Amino acid sequence: MRVDKLLSNMGYGSRKEVKKLLKQGGLTVNEKVIKDGKVHVNPEEDHIEIFGESVSYKPFIYLMMNKPKGVISATEDTTDMTVVDLLETDDAIYEPFPVGRLDKDTTGFMLLTNDGKLAHQLTSPKKKVDKVYRVHIDQLLNEEDERVLKEGVTLDDGYITKPATLQYITDDDKTVLHLTISEGKFHQVKRMFKAVGNKVVALKREKIGPLSLDPSLEPGSYRELTEDEVDSLWKANNK
Ligand code: URA
Repeated sequence: MRVDKLLSNMGYGSRKEVKKLLKQGGLTVNEKVIKDGKVHVNPEEDHIEIFGESVSYKPFIYLMMNKPKGVISATEDTTDMTVVDLLETDDAIYEPFPVGRLDKDTTGFMLLTNDGKLAHQLTSPKKKVDKVYRVHIDQLLNEEDERVLKEGVTLDDGYITKPATLQYITDDDKTVLHLTISEGKFHQVKRMFKAVGNKVVALKREKIGPLSLDPSLEPGSYRELTEDEVDSLWKANNK
């Protein structure tokens, strides 16, 4: 890859600004000053420094975010703050996008990546990757409601949901439960409960495939996934 292209991809400014940086002797590749932007480098093998600081380039980035309320799961929006707006520049330069959607008022595990293949795999209905939601509802469910939610409930557009699991989190408060679904229709969880005459009052995604939301992440914060975590997501088509 041409060194000027690499630097502008990495957020070191426009082509013009990168040219200036090169002219100033700000770039070394394997300890050699490079002033010509046309020089080719291999970002995965060459040692690149900018004004004496090592820079690392990775083709893909994978972030686990605890999405707060009021933020939308999109890359840009004219009125609302997006999950991408919460990223540090060092991460935003990789142009990650949210995998799947969470509603503006839903909190919890939002995965962001620029790896389209993994994103597709995790959202494809064929792969049936489980997502676990903590759901707070406003009324108790009766046995029949529980049965239809688990076996398949007919949504407002006639769609019948795939089998789900439903587990109360504690025995004393049966308005809070974990719902596991392997598909992601628009507003699916809210519509499932609406279909049995109930209402979701708070919704948080806690798990995607094998990965649980890191409890140390405060709302609005995020961290990179480890290599093992990324591997586990690739293996997440569990059915
Ligand atoms: N289901 C919903 O209804 N909303 C979400 O944000 C996610 C799943």
